[in-house]
Amino acid sequence: SGDGSIEKEKTLAMIKPDGLFGSYTNAIKEIILDSGFSICKEMTIHLDEDTVKSFYAVHSSKSFFPSLVNYMTSGPVLIMVLEKVNAVADWRAMIGPTDARKAKVTHPNSIRAMCGLDSQTNCVHGSDSSESAAREISFFFKEASSGIVEGTHASEEE
Ligand code: PPS
Repeated sequence: SGDGSIEKEKTLAMIKPDGLFGSYTNAIKEIILDSGFSICKEMTIHLDEDTVKSFYAVHSSKSFFPSLVNYMTSGPVLIMVLEKVNAVADWRAMIGPTDARKAKVTHPNSIRAMCGLDSQTNCVHGSDSSESAAREISFFFKEASSGIVEGTHASEEE
């Protein structure tokens, strides 16, 4: 790195409970790999209430927050670290708008159009900026953090 070549970037992706429950995991992973991302790390985990509240802390004052927490603890999620050039923006573009009903109209080829239902049940998450990505990746994959078991581990530090 640092030689002027275009840098790879990492982002955090999550397949939410409706995505796992609806058996969309393999289809979504195929789209991810076909789009040139590598999956650096992954884990399937059933998040508890405190973890969800902490992950979505910036939304804690929103009216939908209790419902979001309830939904995100309703079943397991698959959390992945994706890597490629422009990973953050490209993954956001691929998942489509937050509201899957809107995605079906304006972004019919997006992942949320394919498998989401509405603003809550929207199948996937993606970091919204490189700063969020850094925070979210270390939130879930911090080395030696207790209680979270890591999935596959594909080295690569800068
Ligand atoms: S905001 O208000 O623009 O900052 O929110 P947004 O980025 O659209 O959404 C943030 C996350 O909250 C979820 N969300 C909802 N959950 C339940 N009910 C409603 N109405 C609702 N609206 C938004 C949304 O799915 C986002 O989750 P992530 O995992 O970040 O995509």
